Amino acid sequence: MTDNIVLIGFMGVGKGRTARALATATDRFAIDTDDLIESFLKTRIRTFFAEQGEPAFRRVEQQVADWLELRVTGTVISTGGGFFMVNNLARLGRIVYLHSSLKGILTTIGQHPEADRKIKKRPLLQDRAKAKDLFRARLPLYRAAADLEIDVEGKKTSEVVAEIKAWLLRDGLL
Ligand code: S3P
Repeated sequence: MTDNIVLIGFMGVGKGRTARALATATDRFAIDTDDLIESFLKTRIRTFFAEQGEPAFRRVEQQVADWLELRVTGTVISTGGGFFMVNNLARLGRIVYLHSSLKGILTTIGQHPEADRKIKKRPLLQDRAKAKDLFRARLPLYRAAADLEIDVEGKKTSEVVAEIKAWLLRDGLL
């Protein structure tokens, strides 16, 4: 048992923010797969996407997943929006899907003081129509991959963390 808690969900839903708060609340470290990838590649994800393309990015995600499976325990892991497609996800820990409507996600990002930067850094969020198709296609897959789904729309991070913590306690994982 790896004892990790893995947060999955669409771009901009708040996985990183939630992971950091959940880590504090459960006395764990938090790490983020996109951060690991950027430190490993020594470049920004959007640069790598532009230069090498998406399939190459997915291969690096799998390398990170393999490393996490071998090396990481007792940690809260936030993931990039497509990371859930790695072939060993279930072996990385308990999987929590953070759900919001796409409209809700885009509204939250749009209201952020650094909205431009948050959108610009995400290659798959550049074209709204494509993002909508991607959201629709992924929704059933996120749900199928998850041990727990939390609807985060309109909720404070502290509320989301309290729900995840209650579930972990109920399942004897804390
Ligand atoms: C991606 C989501 C991004 C990042 C990359 C691809 C995706 O992470 O991994 O741009 O496929 O949904 P965030 O979910 O943190 O934006």
